[in-house]
Amino acid sequence: MKLFRGRIFTPTGNPFEDSRAWTAFEDGFLAVEDGRIAAIGPWSSRPEASELVEFGSAALLVPGFVDLHLHAPQLEMIGSFGGQLLEWLERYTFPNEAKFADPKHAERVARLFYDELYRHGTLTALVFSTTHTSATETFFREAERVRFRAILGKTMMDRNAPPELLEDPETAHRESRGLIERWNGRGRLGYAITPRFAPTSSPRLLELAGALHAEFPETWVHTHLSESAIEIEWVRRLFPDARDYAAIYDRYGLLGERSVLAHAIHLDDEERALVASRGSRVAHCPNSNLFLGSGLFPMQQMLESGIAFGLGSDVGAGTALSMFSVMADAYKVQQVRGLVLTPVQLWYLGTLAGARALHLDAETGSLEPGKAADFLVLDLEATPLLEARTRTSQSFEEILAALIFLGDDRAVLECRVEGDLLRSRDLSIPGRPGGATFARVNRRRSAEGGSQ
Ligand code: GUN
Ligand code: ZN
Repeated sequence: MKLFRGRIFTPTGNPFEDSRAWTAFEDGFLAVEDGRIAAIGPWSSRPEASELVEFGSAALLVPGFVDLHLHAPQLEMIGSFGGQLLEWLERYTFPNEAKFADPKHAERVARLFYDELYRHGTLTALVFSTTHTSATETFFREAERVRFRAILGKTMMDRNAPPELLEDPETAHRESRGLIERWNGRGRLGYAITPRFAPTSSPRLLELAGALHAEFPETWVHTHLSESAIEIEWVRRLFPDARDYAAIYDRYGLLGERSVLAHAIHLDDEERALVASRGSRVAHCPNSNLFLGSGLFPMQQMLESGIAFGLGSDVGAGTALSMFSVMADAYKVQQVRGLVLTPVQLWYLGTLAGARALHLDAETGSLEPGKAADFLVLDLEATPLLEARTRTSQSFEEILAALIFLGDDRAVLECRVEGDLLRSRDLSIPGRPGGATFARVNRRRSAEGGSQ
């Protein structure tokens, strides 16, 4: 058994229902055996262990972040400015995704993608690929190589996009099916059936996507819903006999408990009731919603309707991979709407809520016995300002708030996957994504001899 010593914070339940659904220790231990959390508690009640890793009082151990919606191939087009959703797709996104026909390009972006996710402390993500099967294979292969927990899917499109990105529905079905057989449930990987959104899907494509999910019910479904007003208008014209946007997906068996719908900003009451009754999950992507001017997520209504949601960066419409930044934007969007979120609620949305939305909460999302030891070591002194702000913090909630509003990749000292050091800000780990400086902070921290 291996012990990690430091300050610890973890959500343990839904703080929107129970404000005490979190645990923290000023001086705590995390006991790890065979990659799983064996126990967690105050240092004074630690079990016997064969190995000890101590972090100083400037370190905070937290669960890895869960990004509930982003596009791997859009990494290098972040900040493509000047248009709202449909113009942004046509002008920037589709031409950018067409480049992924080239395996070398896909390989390079895939390496950068997981490296950047680790750098920012994201250890689990639900990810769009492009329509290319080979690029999707590459994103799976690279995730496996670096032990990233990814649920990925090849984008299915058969209309309203450039011809080089389109496939007939039967081909999209066959290719997706092959990927499911190769990758779904392999190690830490899963497959999401990924029709991009209603406007790029014919009824036949949606029908076959639904049939595929029925054939492989352990897969996920990943799509976009009701993101922008102009998109919704267009959907109405494309599917004139549907009551609303959500009903289109429902008709083809694409609204279920394993469906994650990105955005869902402009649903009416009946649509919300339908999504809630099907148990589908929503990925709230505040950074993207602001960048594209899509709208302000009605979180209060979502809470009242009982729809489960987590947070997504939605890179490349989102301009940051950092879940600190996504949590900060979620806070600000709700401030505008008159809902005040607590730091614990935000942290829940960035971790356990995402794991629950993906049905992965038996594995990850919080630091609780039995789960994989997927955690981060955050550096509360990563910048002079963060140091000054956390030094005067009186409570864990204040520390979390400081990290949410001042934190970025510099605050992510270590990523641990099943207890193993996968990435360190200050250490180069051969063959692993990682930095390349030296272990100054680690050494200083362990010389201090643990917290308090
Ligand atoms: N709707 C359909 N495709 C996309 C996409 O790539 N990004 C976003 N934000 N919305 C979409
Ligand atoms: Zn998206």
